[in-house]
Amino acid sequence: MSELLEERVLITVEHAHQRIAAIAESCYDHTALNNRFYRTWRTGALPVADVELFARNFYEHVAPTADRLATLFLRLTDERARAETIENLSDELGHGDAGKVHAVLLRNMLEDLLSRLHGRTVTFDDISPTVLPQTRKLVREGLALFGDERPEVGCGALLAQEWHAYPQLVNVYEGMRNYMDHYSLEDFHINSEYFYLHIGATEKEHKIHSVSTAAQMCQTQEQVDLLEHGYTSYLDLLAEYWDGLYEALSVA
Ligand SMILES: [Fe+2]
Ligand SMILES: [Fe+2]
Repeated sequence: MSELLEERVLITVEHAHQRIAAIAESCYDHTALNNRFYRTWRTGALPVADVELFARNFYEHVAPTADRLATLFLRLTDERARAETIENLSDELGHGDAGKVHAVLLRNMLEDLLSRLHGRTVTFDDISPTVLPQTRKLVREGLALFGDERPEVGCGALLAQEWHAYPQLVNVYEGMRNYMDHYSLEDFHINSEYFYLHIGATEKEHKIHSVSTAAQMCQTQEQVDLLEHGYTSYLDLLAEYWDGLYEALSVA
């Protein structure tokens, strides 16, 4: 047994970094990023019921981001990986300012859009409560991946989450521009703070940190394989989520 362990080939952090960066780049070929929902969302304004469906399900999947990061943090053993994850968590929680918590900014932005579309004040309490089965599955099984007792799996899920996030927000933002005629030009941009902080800086850094966090936690090929499993599993859940959302649209 000890001989078998000794046969494991250790890889350097630099080598792991290269391998993991290549895995991360592969997300651009995955259906999680090339999905039918993005194309439809970007093409033109949707009926208000479809916008409600999107708002409910998008919030449902994005809001527990802090929970996923906190769950992963408890599994991490490397100090750099732990520090980078806390920085990400701090971003999500508005660096201690409750009004800047990302989930709060997102909810405010979506409720503002829905209020404009309905012509009256609308909150999440007033809209369709439909959370799709694919959304529930993404949240439930996603959290399990981040908290897997093998932290390499959680690091792979983190890699997928952060590399999916930037193109996700670019696509969602471009689609939001279809509703610009419901705002003054200045109001539209004021209400797009959630997008600008992510696209401008936050998600760029999260992508970089997700690679270095993972590289700190992988010293063998077996660990990189576990990481790839977590990465692919989370991307597959995201692909199923976007496809489920597309299929549920009245215009699909
Ligand atoms: Fe965020
Ligand atoms: Fe992020």
